[in-house]
Amino acid sequence: MILGNDPILLTPGPLTTSLATRQAMLRDWGSWDTAFNTMTASICADVVDVVQGAGSHVCVPLQGSGTFSVEAALGTLVPRTGKVLVPVNGAYCQRIVRILGYLGRACTTIDVPEDRFPAPQQVEDALLRDPSITHVAQVHCETGTGILNPLQEIAQVAARHGKGLIIDAMSSFGAIAIDVRTTPFDALIAASGKCLEGVPGMGVVVIRKAALEGAQGNSHSLAMDLYDQHAYMQKTGQWRFTPPTHVVAALRAAIDQFIAEGGQPARGARYAANCRTLIEGMEQLGFKVFLDRKLQAPIIVTFHAPADPNYAFADFYQRVRAKGYILYPGKLTQLETFRVGCIGAIDPNEMRNVVSAVARTLAEMGIRQVAPLAQAA
Ligand SMILES: Cc1ncc(COP(=O)(O)O)c(C=O)c1O
Repeated sequence: MILGNDPILLTPGPLTTSLATRQAMLRDWGSWDTAFNTMTASICADVVDVVQGAGSHVCVPLQGSGTFSVEAALGTLVPRTGKVLVPVNGAYCQRIVRILGYLGRACTTIDVPEDRFPAPQQVEDALLRDPSITHVAQVHCETGTGILNPLQEIAQVAARHGKGLIIDAMSSFGAIAIDVRTTPFDALIAASGKCLEGVPGMGVVVIRKAALEGAQGNSHSLAMDLYDQHAYMQKTGQWRFTPPTHVVAALRAAIDQFIAEGGQPARGARYAANCRTLIEGMEQLGFKVFLDRKLQAPIIVTFHAPADPNYAFADFYQRVRAKGYILYPGKLTQLETFRVGCIGAIDPNEMRNVVSAVARTLAEMGIRQVAPLAQAA
């Protein structure tokens, strides 16, 4: 892939984008202009199609990073008297709990270690125990570790109990299959700068029409009210407040490339090949993956930090960066780790190259003990 001389971002968004996506930002758009509003509408239609939601669901775009859309979806769809069940196995699940606290919505959690996923039976038990729960909020790929949670099974449990499901699919949407017909949900949140390979700056929330129709007046915030955003867009074709025009144009170009590549199955297959190539190469160097392979999503991989006393992440990071690759720090509280993203406009060749950059860095730093201590023994 032609990427120029910029370092390759092996981070889960912002990520490395294609030249065509970046070139789409080379013109200005008027927010009132029909051409711009047609572009927004076409993005929304394509986003709904990714989850086969045409007819039952609508897409509401929102300015801001992904968290803004998570907060907006929770605030819009959970009534002030509602209560949300959050299965927690990582940082982004914890963020949902924090958001609910800010919003003053009642919440209860199922706490699971970060290297395991919540069993659908645990969700079922929690719903049976507490009938006051109105919604389940589930992170699909928990990017804090890279674990893939069993979304479809949890969606079916929620549906069986008549609870609304709100999915944070920020790092999986477009790469891992989600189909509303088998994974019923009230809302699914994604963002421009993740697996659709646009640039960061807006979220998209796919919402079940009937759930949105009943959500008037729930939101605590004007700017975050997806009901209002949708109603205004329906009436005028426009975003309520200044839209991120260049982000929208880049996302249009990125979705065109997504469709040309073969949509979600092809994108997921490329990321899976990236992930496989990365893990095999890093394991040959002696690195140990944090998660069991069966739980690993092909999105981002957490590696244990080398046990060698010469290892320090800041130095390691700078040296790998000088070779053209930007890594990501770990997000675990108990263990020292680092992460490498598999997503973006990159292919297995970049993964082979980053493994080679890491190998040269280990030699430069004099790191011999690459595995963590428990594995070394
Ligand atoms: C699963 C998940 N949820 C939420 C977010 C938050 O998105 P943002 O950092 O764009 O606010 C991210 C970001 O990577 C994510 O991976």
